[in-house]
Amino acid sequence: MSSVKISVSAARRKESIGKLVVLEGWVRTRRDSKGGFSFIELNDGSCFGNVQIIAPNTLGNYETDVLTLAVGSSVRIEGVVKESPGSGQPTEVEASGVTLVGTCDAASYPLQKKRHSLEFLREKAHLRCRTNTFGAVSRVRNRVCYSIHQFFQEECFYYFHAPLITASDCEGAGQMFQVTTLDQTNLPHTDNGRVDYTKDFFGRPSYLTVSGQLEAETVACGLGKCYTFGPTFRAENSNTSRHLSEFWMIEPEAAFYDLTDNMNLAEAFIKRIISDVLRDCQEDMEFFNKFVDTELLATLRNVIDNEFVRLSYTDAIDILLKSGKKFEFKVEWGTDIQSEHERYLTEVHFKKPVILYDYPRTIKAFYMRLNEDGKTVAAMDVLVPKIGEIIGGSQREERLSVLEERMQDQKLDPSNYWWYTDLRRYGTVPHSGFGLGLERMVMFVTGITNIRDVIPYPRSPGNCDF
Ligand code: 4AD
Ligand code: MG
Repeated sequence: MSSVKISVSAARRKESIGKLVVLEGWVRTRRDSKGGFSFIELNDGSCFGNVQIIAPNTLGNYETDVLTLAVGSSVRIEGVVKESPGSGQPTEVEASGVTLVGTCDAASYPLQKKRHSLEFLREKAHLRCRTNTFGAVSRVRNRVCYSIHQFFQEECFYYFHAPLITASDCEGAGQMFQVTTLDQTNLPHTDNGRVDYTKDFFGRPSYLTVSGQLEAETVACGLGKCYTFGPTFRAENSNTSRHLSEFWMIEPEAAFYDLTDNMNLAEAFIKRIISDVLRDCQEDMEFFNKFVDTELLATLRNVIDNEFVRLSYTDAIDILLKSGKKFEFKVEWGTDIQSEHERYLTEVHFKKPVILYDYPRTIKAFYMRLNEDGKTVAAMDVLVPKIGEIIGGSQREERLSVLEERMQDQKLDPSNYWWYTDLRRYGTVPHSGFGLGLERMVMFVTGITNIRDVIPYPRSPGNCDF
């Protein structure tokens, strides 16, 4: 019988019983029994659980390699998959060969058998994929990304790539990282003393993008429906558990979509991601439900099974005012909804996701469509329990004159957006879109409460390690 290389995930399935296999992975634990065996818990990242390897003392390298195997070392195992007599797992592997691939210094290896705090693991970000929690987060994050592509492909949205380096500030909020090759110790200046950007790499000031939306609009106004899925960058100085300086965003955009179409799309999209994860990441999700948030599975099922609340900003302000609750930030029509307000609405008042729409024009970006009342814009934010805002979107202003007025309101120079306003000159159409923050979605489905623990290498103010 010749051996086949399989994953730990495959070795743990009943179908593998009787097969001669090769497994490769890292030792999670090892213990020696008096009966002349060593038990090795092997993990290779293919699934949450380990497979138990039984190494008999008849192996030629038993004394030299097996008995000295340290936690964290890498090994290659050859053996036969057997039905396990234990109750915990369906299979185990009886080893006929154990090869030490890479040793691991037990004294200095940071990942000991005990449970480590997420803060500690953040400092060992290069090793944390080997832990239960971060392994599970990584597999769920992967499944979420796959689901995102599946959903939009099945809905006939075209995947396109927005540029990462840009000259336009999509959100108009001035929170962009500048990209330059100018020598910072010897900047060229113009006659009036300003930095001379004609000498810079692109011949003008340029930045990392905060959103691919403006480009998405140009693509939608030609291809009909599209989405981008890429990294975005924000130089905002908010050191919170929900903000990153570099995060991934999914931005669909569709021509001839109004705000209601946009809300329907957003709701179906979130429900689809959650269903896929619940179906395909069961073991990881059970772990989160047990150790991270014991209401997680119930909350997620509740999200799938119920319609999201749709509530105007004005009605939301009413509810908050009538709540009798003392908020840190004052509730007043015209001010932004703070995260404590979002959480009150989703966790206390409705106990499910809420889509807030029609926000005051003064607190939202220039591109959002002005409503008939002249005071509000066709914005929508999707809020979910424990996270707050997970999606931000809107119907876009397709009327040139109104758009130019809104730009002037917000002190933006329309000449910098000439290509964007062109869309309104040549066959303009109503259109809408939104942005989902990938990391916030991963937080929501895993129950993890700090955004730094759902991305491999978090970037936040003052932190660019690794
Ligand atoms: O609400 P935002 O700023 O909307 C836009 O950027 C629009 N241009 C999107 C569009 O309509 N195409 O960001 C969208 C989402 C937020 O709801 C949030 O989930 C996430 O992106 N997000 C962040 N995630 C992590 N860290 C940050 N600093 C984030 N800022 C926004
Ligand atoms: Mg927003």
